[in-house]
Amino acid sequence: MRAIAVSTFGAEPCLVEVPKPGPATGEVRVKVEYAALNPLDWQTGDGVRDEAVPHVFPLVLGTDFAGRVDMIGSGDNTFRVGDPVFGRVTAPPLGRCGAYGEYVCVPQDSPIALVPSGLPLQVAAALPTAGSTAAQILSSTAVRSGLTLLVVGATGGVGSFLTQLAAARGTAVVAAVRGDEGRRMRALGAIATVDTASGSAALEAAVRDLYPDGVDALVDLVSTDTASFAAYTALVRDGGVAVTTRGVAAPGGIAWADFRLAPTAALLDELASAVASGELTVPIDMELPLEKAPQALVQNRAGGARGKTVFTI
Ligand SMILES: NC(=O)c1ccc[n+]([C@@H]2O[C@H](COP(=O)([O-])OP(=O)(O)OC[C@H]3O[C@@H](n4cnc5c(N)ncnc54)[C@H](OP(=O)(O)O)[C@@H]3O)[C@@H](O)[C@H]2O)c1
Repeated sequence: MRAIAVSTFGAEPCLVEVPKPGPATGEVRVKVEYAALNPLDWQTGDGVRDEAVPHVFPLVLGTDFAGRVDMIGSGDNTFRVGDPVFGRVTAPPLGRCGAYGEYVCVPQDSPIALVPSGLPLQVAAALPTAGSTAAQILSSTAVRSGLTLLVVGATGGVGSFLTQLAAARGTAVVAAVRGDEGRRMRALGAIATVDTASGSAALEAAVRDLYPDGVDALVDLVSTDTASFAAYTALVRDGGVAVTTRGVAAPGGIAWADFRLAPTAALLDELASAVASGELTVPIDMELPLEKAPQALVQNRAGGARGKTVFTI
């Protein structure tokens, strides 16, 4: 089958032919129709999870998928051949199956769920990682009690969902972005947009203008070092909370959390229902053929994501 894979950590992702995987006991095989890009995909190709999980090469990239069940392994079974499903492929060894391939085998008890009728598969494919991250940041961290929330990197996948979900529960979201994205962020529910590209003094002035004592909560999707994270945490009021998704240690003196996604099938069901009922919008920026995935990964690494990129497989 066709897949986008790396031959070793750090190698350039390429279109390759690999054997079609067969479902093991307890697994279903899914014929993938769409995969969505997450930064985790190129990070996995770089080897960021090398010490945590076994990998195999060629390492087929990709985590989020949607498609139809085409074969069922032995053992207990909750799905039927032909079911439209979406979810994440993360079972070890990483690379045996990846969403950037024509077929994935996934354990039935992993984060996979039925696509509700009427929900297009490419929309479902764009939900799992970014949607679950946004929902769990709001439900499982102290960010949930905040009345004002500063989101740094709000234009990307996680930020676009987080802005909507937080605004829907009455939180005033200030979107910190690079560039002129006010209209886009307002449409997603932000009450204000500030530009991080104009420098930290201008950013601080813009936020202090809105909230002189600081915001209740910060979600930083961008900073990869403590100094940058610290500059944003200075905009949080005393007693507020800061969250990073980038594993950055925070400076002392503030409440903070290093967020780790723990996705579940139940959460996927909730997200899909919210989209199907029109409460949540999935901002698909680009839909590309699988062959374009290597270039799209290079582009995502460089920045500039505006919502989600989806590949047709
Ligand atoms: N810990 C976890 O469990 C977990 C879960 C999900 C995601 N993550 C991580 O969280 C990060 C965000 O994920 P994502 O899916 O939202 O990525 P994404 O879709 O690539 O979006 C990142 C966004 O950040 C913006 N950005 C970059 N630098 C910025 C800056 N200095 N100021 C303002 N905006 C900036 C980018 O746009 P511009 O470049 O145009 O500014 C882009 O819109 C990734 O590193 C991902 O790996 C971690």
